[in-house]
Amino acid sequence: MYSAIILAAGSGERAGLGFNKVLFHVHNQEILNYSVDFFNKDIDCKELILVVSQPDLEHMEQEYSRITTKIVIGGVTRQESVYKALQVVTNDYVLIHDGARPFIPVATVKALKIGLKDHYSITPGIRAKDTIKVIEDNFVVKTLNRDVLFRVQTPQAFHTSKIIEAHKMALKNNYNGTDDTVLIEKYLNLKTFIVEGDYRNIKLTTKDDLLFLEVIL
Ligand code: CTP
Ligand code: MG
Repeated sequence: MYSAIILAAGSGERAGLGFNKVLFHVHNQEILNYSVDFFNKDIDCKELILVVSQPDLEHMEQEYSRITTKIVIGGVTRQESVYKALQVVTNDYVLIHDGARPFIPVATVKALKIGLKDHYSITPGIRAKDTIKVIEDNFVVKTLNRDVLFRVQTPQAFHTSKIIEAHKMALKNNYNGTDDTVLIEKYLNLKTFIVEGDYRNIKLTTKDDLLFLEVIL
């Protein structure tokens, strides 16, 4: 039994659509609806919290209030949006997911649920296929060892009390992370477990991603 937080309170600047990218239609369905639908259908998901921006609130309530438990107004950063949603979570376990990732793999969620019995913090990850280099002023300064590099995805799963504690510490220290597991690493000194992600679980970030999503979905 877990609560799910779906993040949709961004504005989608990099996608350049002129509106929030999670509202873009692929196969006659909003990108966001794919994730909402997934968690709505998962019997173990007892609470579905949708985080939205003030400008999108009316639309979101109209489209999603019937199939979500709570709709929360997000913050300026992704981290702030998560923190606000965590305040209303009532289950001991929580899955935090980017609404901009419409393809949620069943196998990944299954692995997260099993993993929660033994771990406080879990993320799906996939191996980096490309060699990754560190660049400064247009020159390569370092080449990283690809064998230890993973790209992480969402949903990420947590024991609710731990992720709340980590977020509180981050807030106190004015730290802004790009995912939630980094806060666990930095402030609780706990390890995050990795489960198998999926190359199809891409995040709609730029317009090019739409092409892939049309095929994947
Ligand atoms: N998000 C959020 N609240 C914010 C910022 C982002 O809930 N203040 C959500 C987005 O809606 C998205 C997810 O976090 O589902 C991942 O963020 P990102 O891909 O960066 O989306 P945007 O911030 O909307 O896009 P951009 O950074 O290009 O503006
Ligand atoms: Mg963003």
